[in-house]
Amino acid sequence: MKKALITGITGQDGSYLAEFLLGKGYEVHGIVRRVALEDPSRRFSRIAGILGKVKLHPASLESYASIFRVIAGTPIDECYHLAAQSFVAESFEDGFSTLNSNINGTHHVLAALREANPACRFYFAGTSEMFGKVTESPQDERTPFNPRSPYGISKVAGHHLAINYREEYGMHCSSGILFNHESPRRGHEYVTRKISNGVARIKAGRQKDLRLGNLDARRDWGHAADYVDAMWRMLQQDRPDTYVVATGETHSVREFCEIAFSEAGLDYKEWVVADDQFRRPVEAEVLMGNAARARKILGWKKSVDFPSLVREMVHADLKNEGAT
Ligand code: GDD
Repeated sequence: MKKALITGITGQDGSYLAEFLLGKGYEVHGIVRRVALEDPSRRFSRIAGILGKVKLHPASLESYASIFRVIAGTPIDECYHLAAQSFVAESFEDGFSTLNSNINGTHHVLAALREANPACRFYFAGTSEMFGKVTESPQDERTPFNPRSPYGISKVAGHHLAINYREEYGMHCSSGILFNHESPRRGHEYVTRKISNGVARIKAGRQKDLRLGNLDARRDWGHAADYVDAMWRMLQQDRPDTYVVATGETHSVREFCEIAFSEAGLDYKEWVVADDQFRRPVEAEVLMGNAARARKILGWKKSVDFPSLVREMVHADLKNEGAT
């Protein structure tokens, strides 16, 4: 039986990946912050259904000693490093802690693996935010990085750390440059969930408008469940490498609103209010990925299109809010 360790197992991607790996017969381990262990029922909502099937280890990404203890004590075959401060807007508020936890956290995991389990395969959660102010469109594995946020900068550094461990120490380190991926498990601070939840609360009469920032920003939005499949495929290859994972389509925040509100029988123009407090100082205006390489080498493809993704999120939140 293969054994995998997931950092960030309680997040959107971690929870889908844990279910995916359990389905493939893996023994699944997860790293969680010690404080998070105190109230499992509330903090662990995304993995509530599999809590008895995964083994959780308390550790902090900021502490090499705690990461080393878990890695040295758990004989794993694959490590999926998903934990990060991953909200771009927050990284402008506190760039120091984003850089600290995302860069050092990645370095701690890689260094511990090198010391205790160098044969373990490693997945790094790269991101389209590394492209930032894009120099070409669509973006692929050869597109230069030009990050526009502390978050993007931290991920470029983590990506290069993974490649360095691959090249210097011969470790099986792969990096997935994943474009935005969403689901009903998305955190409420991200725009897609803010919209789907806003629609449901408006429909339920609990919210009077939805205040958003840049409605013209364009993103390449896929479904998180499809994207964890790509992560796993990367670690099944003989050779470690870097892959872009994306749908190849770009849609604006406005388009997301249009579909989301109309799904609930509403017109977004009557409810959405532009509010500068949700605009970022600078940002990646348009992201669109070319996943040709992942399709060819990994045999990966998306299974959920953009309108279906929006609809799934809206219907889940309408149900959560009792507005169906
Ligand atoms: N969060 C948020 N809130 N975003 C808004 C809002 C708002 O009220 N109004 C407009 N937006 C715009 C943002 O400016 C951005 O252009 C877009 O909506 C998407 O924002 P987010 O959903 O916060 O995601 P992100 O694109 O910044 O980052 C996500 O995707 C990356 C991959 O490209 C995160 O998941 C990152 O962790 C991930 O790496």
